[in-house]
Amino acid sequence: MKIKNLKIDNKVFLAPMAGVTDLPFRLLCKKQNCGMVYTEMVSAKGLLFENEKTGSLLQVDEREHPVAAQLFGSDPDIIAEMAKRVEETPVDMIDINMGCPALKITRNGEGSALMKTPERIGEIVYRVARSIEKPLTIKIRKGFDDNSINAVEIAKIAEDAGADAIAIHGRTREQFYTGKADWNIIKEIKDAVGIPVIGNGDIVKPQDAKDMLDKTGCDAVMIGRGAQGNPWIFSRTNHYLETGEILPMPTVEERIATALYHAEMILTYKGDYIGIRQMRSHLAWYIKGLPNSSEMRVKINKIDNLEELKSVLWQYASHIS
Ligand SMILES: Cc1cc2nc3c(=O)[nH]c(=O)nc-3n(C[C@H](O)[C@H](O)[C@H](O)COP(=O)(O)O)c2cc1C
Repeated sequence: MKIKNLKIDNKVFLAPMAGVTDLPFRLLCKKQNCGMVYTEMVSAKGLLFENEKTGSLLQVDEREHPVAAQLFGSDPDIIAEMAKRVEETPVDMIDINMGCPALKITRNGEGSALMKTPERIGEIVYRVARSIEKPLTIKIRKGFDDNSINAVEIAKIAEDAGADAIAIHGRTREQFYTGKADWNIIKEIKDAVGIPVIGNGDIVKPQDAKDMLDKTGCDAVMIGRGAQGNPWIFSRTNHYLETGEILPMPTVEERIATALYHAEMILTYKGDYIGIRQMRSHLAWYIKGLPNSSEMRVKINKIDNLEELKSVLWQYASHIS
């Protein structure tokens, strides 16, 4: 498929997730044939003030293309200026976050709070589309709450203002991540606009991706939580879409080996202290559903260095395989 002039090999994308979709995790997903990866959300204001941490979130690797940089903010001037600056880095596409439900974001009028002011969304998209050449997408929710379901209206405004694709998560801001994602809204948007639509919400296995594509007609699917500790979901989903065959999950040894490789990358990239702490959540996801996983989680939370991590994981693997 294509978004503007960007050719994308397949229609199974990794959703942007703050604290999760950093460079090491994106590389693992890419290795499993993920069609498009997104950075964690990055504050446009933070970039403007040259916040070092914010800038490092946008570091990309030549092996992960195509990669989208996701910005958040509410000021059209600042977002447009920062999008232009980010466009000069090796990212392939710019996405603007209009769906984050967190209070620390919405109280500044950013993320999903933008859905309360469709005209501002129009202005942001218009300004950014005119300041960059690379494809521009937005990621929205169904609406702010049940009384203001306006994703279709917003999708049309964004298309008219110059967006090149729209990603839609079928929940309201009020739902955060609870309840079931409404896939009907994805179909409604697909029927209402001519640009590509990327459907998102509750894809946890290959069959879900096919279901969403079939039911909504969307052009691509985006997987978030279903990819945590499970980068294989991309290769397994692509294989299923191509052949109708469900490949088995990797063996325990393979899962543990990938978790270790992930840990090595994250420690190299972020240093031991932060790396180990961030790796703890990834490890809990890698072992989810395996025997004695709750006991293991307690051990994982005490791990302090890479050597300890390796020995705890291999011991675990040898006990359960
Ligand atoms: C831990 C976490 C962090 C997230 N961070 C972002 C983010 O930075 N930007 C964004 O647009 N959405 C973010 N999301 C939302 C996801 O991109 C996605 O829309 C949502 O999880 C629904 O998809 P899923 O059911 O496949 O998880 C985040 C979700 C989670 C669980």
